[in-house]
Amino acid sequence: MRLLADEKIPHRFLGGGTNVLIDDGELPWVVLHLPTSQPGMRVEGNAAYVDAAADLGGMVTFCAKRDLGGMEGLIGVPGSVGGALRMNAGAYGTQIGSYVREVELYRAATGEIETVRGNDIRFDYRHTSFAPDDVMLRVKLELPSKPFKEILAGIKVCNEKRRASQPLNQKSAGCIFKNPPGGSAGRMIDELGLKGHRAGDAMVSDRHANFFINAGKASCADMLRLIDDVRERVRTRFGMELENEVILWKN
Ligand code: EPU
Repeated sequence: MRLLADEKIPHRFLGGGTNVLIDDGELPWVVLHLPTSQPGMRVEGNAAYVDAAADLGGMVTFCAKRDLGGMEGLIGVPGSVGGALRMNAGAYGTQIGSYVREVELYRAATGEIETVRGNDIRFDYRHTSFAPDDVMLRVKLELPSKPFKEILAGIKVCNEKRRASQPLNQKSAGCIFKNPPGGSAGRMIDELGLKGHRAGDAMVSDRHANFFINAGKASCADMLRLIDDVRERVRTRFGMELENEVILWKN
């Protein structure tokens, strides 16, 4: 990254890629990605030290087996720990930010590796105060002690809720829009009767209306047309401006 910065070569960092919509055609950036084989995870008392490249679900299970809970709601959220930190990933009342005590990151602005205390990071709904070019390297979490069996029961409940309400076996980037304060993007899109609505092969899921599915060979352009179309309809009907939850890499 230092070399790329020195040479002024544009670059971006990709985590698990599960919440990113990437433009069609070539990208004008070098894309960097941490290797995911055997990322480090260890537990010491109530602290868990986890590499950013680790799989988020894998981390939840690893901690659960060591009787550390709290993150049951995150079990079905796909992606890497680094991506989850950056977005403050959350589900079923749990957000990863609540458990973060320290983050080790590469600060592109200074070219140095720094350790930031959890209290110095702002974690909001699907948003954090990290700089866009900070690269997450490692996290220290502090987790409540809980017997494995209890954690497993919580995980089961979340898995069932998710299976019942989300299109898990179809291709999607999860929820497309953030929920507006006090509202639900999915419910509004559903109320507009838009389940199954398409732009090319991009389709509003008929299970959860805030999930847009690749129903064949959808291009990014198809997805963007569908996003604009749905946003416009929600604006007209509900007077509400939906903000993207999915991250867009547009050329
Ligand atoms: N609803 C409908 N029709 C739909 C979808 C939802 O009427 O097609 C209704 C539901 O019946 C429910 C309400 O809308 O009364 C909320 O739906 P749900 O419980 O599914 O949660 P959500 O607000 O749509 C959020 C997160 C999800 C997360 C779930 C569970 C956002 C944008 N979405 O969805 O996160 O999994 O809660 O905690 O915050 C994601 O971030 O990609 C994501 C999927």
